[in-house]
Amino acid sequence: TFEIELARTGTSVLVGSEETVLEAIRRAGVDHPSSCEMGICGTCEVKVLAGTVDHRDDLLTPAEQESGATMMACVSRSACPKLVLDA
Ligand code: FES
Repeated sequence: TFEIELARTGTSVLVGSEETVLEAIRRAGVDHPSSCEMGICGTCEVKVLAGTVDHRDDLLTPAEQESGATMMACVSRSACPKLVLDA
Protein backbone atom coordinates (compact mmCIF):
# COMPACT_ATOMS: atom_id res chain seq x y z
CA THR A 1 0.00 0.00 0.00
CA PHE A 2 1.22 3.48 -0.85
CA GLU A 3 -0.25 6.95 -1.06
CA ILE A 4 -0.82 9.08 -4.13
CA GLU A 5 -1.34 12.80 -3.90
CA LEU A 6 -3.16 14.40 -6.81
CA ALA A 7 -1.54 17.81 -7.11
CA ARG A 8 -4.27 19.50 -9.15
CA THR A 9 -6.98 18.82 -6.59
CA GLY A 10 -4.85 18.40 -3.49
CA THR A 11 -6.49 15.06 -2.72
CA SER A 12 -4.65 12.03 -1.41
CA VAL A 13 -5.73 8.41 -1.59
CA LEU A 14 -4.17 5.14 -0.58
CA VAL A 15 -3.54 2.54 -3.29
CA GLY A 16 -4.05 -0.97 -1.99
CA SER A 17 -2.35 -4.05 -3.39
CA GLU A 18 -5.49 -5.05 -5.32
CA GLU A 19 -5.93 -1.65 -6.92
CA THR A 20 -4.12 0.17 -9.72
CA VAL A 21 -2.97 3.78 -9.56
CA LEU A 22 -5.45 4.49 -12.35
CA GLU A 23 -8.32 3.06 -10.31
CA ALA A 24 -7.23 5.05 -7.27
CA ILE A 25 -7.09 8.29 -9.30
CA ARG A 26 -10.65 7.65 -10.47
CA ARG A 27 -11.79 6.73 -6.98
CA ALA A 28 -10.50 10.13 -5.89
CA GLY A 29 -12.95 11.68 -8.34
CA VAL A 30 -10.57 12.52 -11.17
CA ASP A 31 -11.61 11.46 -14.67
CA HIS A 32 -8.31 10.12 -16.03
CA PRO A 33 -8.10 8.64 -19.56
CA SER A 34 -7.07 5.06 -20.34
CA SER A 35 -7.26 2.61 -23.21
CA CYS A 36 -5.25 -0.61 -23.18
CA GLU A 37 -4.81 -0.81 -19.39
CA MET A 38 -1.86 -3.11 -20.11
CA GLY A 39 0.99 -0.61 -20.13
CA ILE A 40 1.46 -0.48 -23.89
CA CYS A 41 -0.51 2.47 -25.35
CA GLY A 42 0.43 5.51 -23.27
CA THR A 43 -3.09 6.91 -22.89
CA CYS A 44 -2.97 6.87 -19.09
CA GLU A 45 0.45 8.52 -18.84
CA VAL A 46 0.66 10.93 -15.91
CA LYS A 47 3.44 13.28 -14.84
CA VAL A 48 5.17 12.38 -11.61
CA LEU A 49 6.02 15.44 -9.51
CA ALA A 50 7.62 13.62 -6.58
CA GLY A 51 8.41 10.09 -5.51
CA THR A 52 10.00 7.02 -7.07
CA VAL A 53 8.03 4.92 -9.54
CA ASP A 54 8.06 1.12 -9.83
CA HIS A 55 7.66 1.08 -13.62
CA ARG A 56 5.78 -1.92 -15.01
CA ASP A 57 4.89 -0.67 -18.48
CA ASP A 58 6.25 -1.84 -21.85
CA LEU A 59 6.27 1.62 -23.40
CA LEU A 60 8.77 3.95 -21.75
CA THR A 61 12.41 3.50 -22.64
CA PRO A 62 14.78 2.51 -19.86
CA ALA A 63 16.06 6.11 -19.86
CA GLU A 64 12.54 7.47 -19.53
CA GLN A 65 11.80 5.04 -16.73
CA GLU A 66 15.02 6.04 -15.04
CA SER A 67 14.12 9.74 -15.24
CA GLY A 68 10.88 9.06 -13.40
CA ALA A 69 9.17 12.06 -14.99
CA THR A 70 6.05 10.17 -16.00
CA MET A 71 4.35 6.85 -15.33
CA MET A 72 1.65 4.66 -16.85
CA ALA A 73 -1.05 4.74 -14.21
CA CYS A 74 -2.71 1.52 -15.40
CA VAL A 75 0.17 -0.77 -14.47
CA SER A 76 3.02 1.03 -12.74
CA ARG A 77 3.20 1.39 -8.98
CA SER A 78 5.23 3.17 -6.36
CA ALA A 79 8.65 2.25 -5.01
CA CYS A 80 8.24 4.69 -2.11
CA PRO A 81 5.51 5.53 0.43
CA LYS A 82 4.07 8.44 -1.55
CA LEU A 83 3.86 9.61 -5.16
CA VAL A 84 2.75 13.12 -6.12
CA LEU A 85 1.07 13.10 -9.51
CA ASP A 86 0.05 15.89 -11.89
CA ALA A 87 -3.56 14.72 -11.96
FE1 FES B 1 -2.54 2.03 -22.10
FE2 FES B 1 -2.13 2.64 -19.56
S1 FES B 1 -4.01 2.64 -20.63
S2 FES B 1 -0.65 2.29 -21.09
